[in-house]
Amino acid sequence: MTLLVTGASGHLGRLVVESLLERGTPAADVVAIARNPESVADLADRGVVVRRADYTDPASLDAAFEGIDRLLLVSGSEVGQRIAQHANVIDAAKRAGVGFLAYTSITRADTSDLALAAEHRATEELLAASGLPHALLRNSWYLENYTGQLPTVLEHGAVLGAAGDGRVSAATRADYADAAAVVLAGEGGRGHEGAVYELGGDDAFTLGELAETVGRVAGREVAYRDLSVPDYTAALVAAGLPEGYAGVLADSDRGVAEGALFTDSGDLSRLIGRPTTSLEGALSAAFVATTPTA
Ligand SMILES: NC(=O)c1ccc[n+]([C@@H]2O[C@H](COP(=O)([O-])OP(=O)(O)OC[C@H]3O[C@@H](n4cnc5c(N)ncnc54)[C@H](OP(=O)(O)O)[C@@H]3O)[C@@H](O)[C@H]2O)c1
Repeated sequence: MTLLVTGASGHLGRLVVESLLERGTPAADVVAIARNPESVADLADRGVVVRRADYTDPASLDAAFEGIDRLLLVSGSEVGQRIAQHANVIDAAKRAGVGFLAYTSITRADTSDLALAAEHRATEELLAASGLPHALLRNSWYLENYTGQLPTVLEHGAVLGAAGDGRVSAATRADYADAAAVVLAGEGGRGHEGAVYELGGDDAFTLGELAETVGRVAGREVAYRDLSVPDYTAALVAAGLPEGYAGVLADSDRGVAEGALFTDSGDLSRLIGRPTTSLEGALSAAFVATTPTA
C-alpha cells in the first residue's frame, strides 16, 4: 500500500513521514510531497519517494498522486488561498483513484466561528461532496505555538493574550503527527473512513496556567496579562507581526476564551495509544533547548 504525505517539507508533514517510518511502513511505500524536493533530500536519502507538487498546479498533483492508495492532505499555510488549493488536491486525488484521504482540519470546524476555521470548514464540505472516503483530523492548537514564545515570555516575565479563562487543548505536533500516521497507515486494519477525530491534549490549560507553568519550569515569576482583542492585536503588530496575521491570532484567542479550541474527546491519546505530551513536559524540553546552561 502506498501512502502519500503532502506538506512533507513542513513541521507537521515531516513528523508524519518520520512516524510512518518508525511505525514500520517501508520507506519505499511512503511518498513525500514538497514544492522544493531539495528541502526533503534527507528523506529521499532514507529511501522515501519524493515527488514535487504544488497545490496551485493541478498537473503536478496528477503526476504526484499516480499509484497512491491513501493520502494525507496537510492543510496549506497560505491563509486566504487554501480553499482553491485544497480543492485542487481533492480533485486530483479523485482523478488518480486514491482510495482514502485524511485532512488536517481544526477543532469542530463545522460549527466553529474562528476566522481560521472558515477555510477548514469549506475544505471539509468539498471532501463530503467529493465522495472520496476520508477522515477528518481536527487538530486543536500546537503546543509549539506557546513553547516557541518561551524566550520572549521569559524576557518580559509575562504571557500576553486575550483568552481570558478559556482552556485550550494544545498538543505537540509530534502527537498530532503520530495520530495522522496511525490513520493514514490504517493501523490495526482500521480504515478510518468517515471518522471525525477531535484531536487535542489530554489536559487543557488556561493561559494563566501556562504562565504559572513557565514560571515553575524556569524558576522565576511569570504573569499572564489578559488584554482586549484590539489591544492584543496591537501588541502582536508592535512585536512585528503583519496586521492581518495578528488579527487572526487575536481572534483565535477570542475563540479560546469561548472554548473554540477545547476538546475533551480523548481521541488523540486513544489513536496514539499513550497519554499526550503534557504542557510541563513540552515547556521543560523547550527550556532546556533554548537555555543550554539550564
Ligand atoms: N494547529 C495549529 O496550531 C496550527 C498552527 C499553524 C498552522 N496550522 C496548520 O497546519 C498546517 C501544518 O502545520 P506546520 O506547522 O507543518 O506548517 P508549516 O511548517 O508552515 O508547513 C506547511 C507545509 O505546507 C506546504 N505548502 C504550503 N503551501 C503549499 C502549496 N501551495 N503547495 C504545496 N505545499 C504547500 C509547505 O511547503 P513549503 O515548504 O514548500 O512552503 C509546508 O510543507 C499548516 O499549513 C496550517 O494549515 C495549524
